[in-house]
Amino acid sequence: MRAGTNVTFSSRIIPHASASQHFRMRGRPIAQTLSCIFLAASTAVTPRASFHHSPAMLYSHAAAVDAYTFPHLHPASRANSRALDDALAASRAAGLPPYMLAPAQGKFLALHCRASNVTHALEIGTLGGYSAIWVASENPQLRLTTVEYDPRHADVARKNIARAGLADRVEVLQGAGVDVLARLGEEIRRGRRVKFGFVFIDADKPNNWNYFRLAKDLVRTNSVICVDNIVGRHGELVGRGRGDPDVEGSREAVVNAGKEPGVDAVVIQTLTEKSSDGWLSAVVNPEDGPRHSEL
Ligand code: DHB
Ligand code: MG
Repeated sequence: MRAGTNVTFSSRIIPHASASQHFRMRGRPIAQTLSCIFLAASTAVTPRASFHHSPAMLYSHAAAVDAYTFPHLHPASRANSRALDDALAASRAAGLPPYMLAPAQGKFLALHCRASNVTHALEIGTLGGYSAIWVASENPQLRLTTVEYDPRHADVARKNIARAGLADRVEVLQGAGVDVLARLGEEIRRGRRVKFGFVFIDADKPNNWNYFRLAKDLVRTNSVICVDNIVGRHGELVGRGRGDPDVEGSREAVVNAGKEPGVDAVVIQTLTEKSSDGWLSAVVNPEDGPRHSEL
């Protein structure tokens, strides 16, 4: 069976409804259905092939899973729900591109910061401040520095962050990422700023590795550096992307992270209500210690 055949979905996504109520394939139970789809996908696709078949199929099941799980785990009554919705609405109204994280990803990053006792986090690529609001609002002790190149985006983000009541803990630095990171490094060396415990890179993809290697010198030992959109919504990372600067930027990050002393990384593929993609997650030892594989 090829992925994408003989599969039917209800187009209606009902929050709180059981996913299996609106996701069926030939009457099979959902667990069997999911394993069937992933088996089909893994056997039908040869390495370096195009991944364009049936994205609608994957997204509609992902949307159903998010619509079922998210309201249970983060109901609208939570303190930050309104601020997050308002930030999305204001970003849309201002014409920002819809490149913010899915809600589940925003919460995941926020929970990671809490679990790791992160007190100072750094983001490169603020957009409208949606991920910033997630990370800061879920972690009352955390201070976030977020860097945005586009002054219009930075303006929207500052307003969204202020409306969320987070302006005292989130600083939006407008400027070119490489320049701002160099400046942050100087401030850390002069003792004017403490090192970060988490970095999220989500900006212009050709600079992924530049941001990563600069961020590596700004973090405490064993901090996580996460790079968004490493896989691409159509699996471009392993597709025919030669010459595409975004894809080359993602490949460079994977290849160099694998060779860089003091870095131990993995790519986690993601499937959300917004798209399929994936991020690179690295634990970094800036003291240039031996890599895990050499221990
Ligand atoms: C896209 C998604 C992102 O998360 C991003 O940072 C940039 C672009 C996209 O879907 O094209
Ligand atoms: Mg992104």
